[in-house]
Amino acid sequence: QPRRKFVTSLLNEKLPKHIISLLKKIGMIAENLGYNVYAVGGFVRDLLLRQENLDIDLVVEGDGITLAKKLQKEINAHIHTYQKFGTAVVILPDGFRLDIATARTEYYEFPGALPKVEMSSLKLDLYRRDFTINALAIKLNPKQFGLLLDFFGAQRDLKERMIRVLYNLSFVEDPTRILRAVRFEQRFGFRISKQTLDLIRQALKLNLLFQTTGSRIWHELKCIFGETNPAAIIERLNELSVLKSLHPALKWDKSLKKLFKEIEAVLSWFELLFLEEKYVKEEVYLLGLLDPLKEEEVNSFLTVLEFPKSKKELFFKKRREIFNIYGLWQKKREIKPSLVYLTIKEIPLEFVLYLMAKLSPAKKKWLSLYFTQWRDIKPILTGDDLKAMGLKPGPIFRTILEELLKARLDGKVKTEEDEKKLVKKILKGKNFH
Ligand code: CTP
Repeated sequence: QPRRKFVTSLLNEKLPKHIISLLKKIGMIAENLGYNVYAVGGFVRDLLLRQENLDIDLVVEGDGITLAKKLQKEINAHIHTYQKFGTAVVILPDGFRLDIATARTEYYEFPGALPKVEMSSLKLDLYRRDFTINALAIKLNPKQFGLLLDFFGAQRDLKERMIRVLYNLSFVEDPTRILRAVRFEQRFGFRISKQTLDLIRQALKLNLLFQTTGSRIWHELKCIFGETNPAAIIERLNELSVLKSLHPALKWDKSLKKLFKEIEAVLSWFELLFLEEKYVKEEVYLLGLLDPLKEEEVNSFLTVLEFPKSKKELFFKKRREIFNIYGLWQKKREIKPSLVYLTIKEIPLEFVLYLMAKLSPAKKKWLSLYFTQWRDIKPILTGDDLKAMGLKPGPIFRTILEELLKARLDGKVKTEEDEKKLVKKILKGKNFH
């Protein structure tokens, strides 16, 4: 039995008071039901690492759904229950979420990895997980609130900065853990232990990554692209030959590393200036990773990732557009603002940011001006003004307004008078046809 250690003061120090009260309340409800309840996983790991994390996962020795329902009655919360899995999500009025699961003990879910000794259901549940550092628990029942349970040497591994699996068949059971191992290693600046590295190599030799679904791999890739330094993770995946196991065309070299750094810089620039504007960061990095690939290779990789046909086709179409624009712009020394505007305005943000990362500093400026100035420019005259000038509404309005916008972007008109003059000129031009 491990030494008894309480982390109550750490909890009090790191968590908001209302969360502590909530956890205590849950402990009390569990106690009354005759259950044990624990906070587990990433939340506990990050608490010990002193890293902020309020994604709280609870495991119940008892029935998780019954506990969630009792909790719902006592506090003003919404719950979603998933009978099949014995899990529930509790959502508080302020949007705070809590995941509650029933300890999973089924032996049949452990092909070949049957533990020899008898284990409590908590211990079994933790044993099924990916790495020692993710297999810590904190008890929440009143008498032992804050008791840290470390069955597998997680505290030692946190101290030694090691990523270590809990059992030898871990990667066989779930090959996506190969990607997770590298992600956690790079996120925390840890090392994957020698034995775990050997297990990764064996799993790769058996081509196990092929046996898992593409959507699970895409999920893990998205997690990687969502980290602070995706480049470091991809570089390490390449070093361990994981990248080429995902797809033979994937590679990592100096120029891709540079592109990733550019993407990072562009995204932080963009986020700083346009906090409110949402885009899918993961897609920008996916474009980056696929940058050196030929179209057939991109196609086959996205097929591996199980992208639906329509999404794949849109991705291709837009990627092709970006490559064309990039090619054209490479040849130009200067460009009219209106041309930048008209070229870019219909392209999804992710693709524009990717293009920006690819461009040389002088040409990046074209896009930074587009984002900070040009895209907000409007003609002074509106459709109503055109009507007031005696024009009959119709498709011509669109043409005129677009011409006015172009002229304004390119500095050819300044005042309302200039615009009116231009309208007349456009109309005259039209009359010739
Ligand atoms: N887990 C696992 N195998 C996986 C995915 C998850 O064993 N393939 C376990 C891990 O032990 C993890 C828990 O399920 O602690 C929750 O998963 P997730 O939310 O993905 O992990 P976190 O550790 O919370 O990671 P992050 O900090 O990235 O959210």
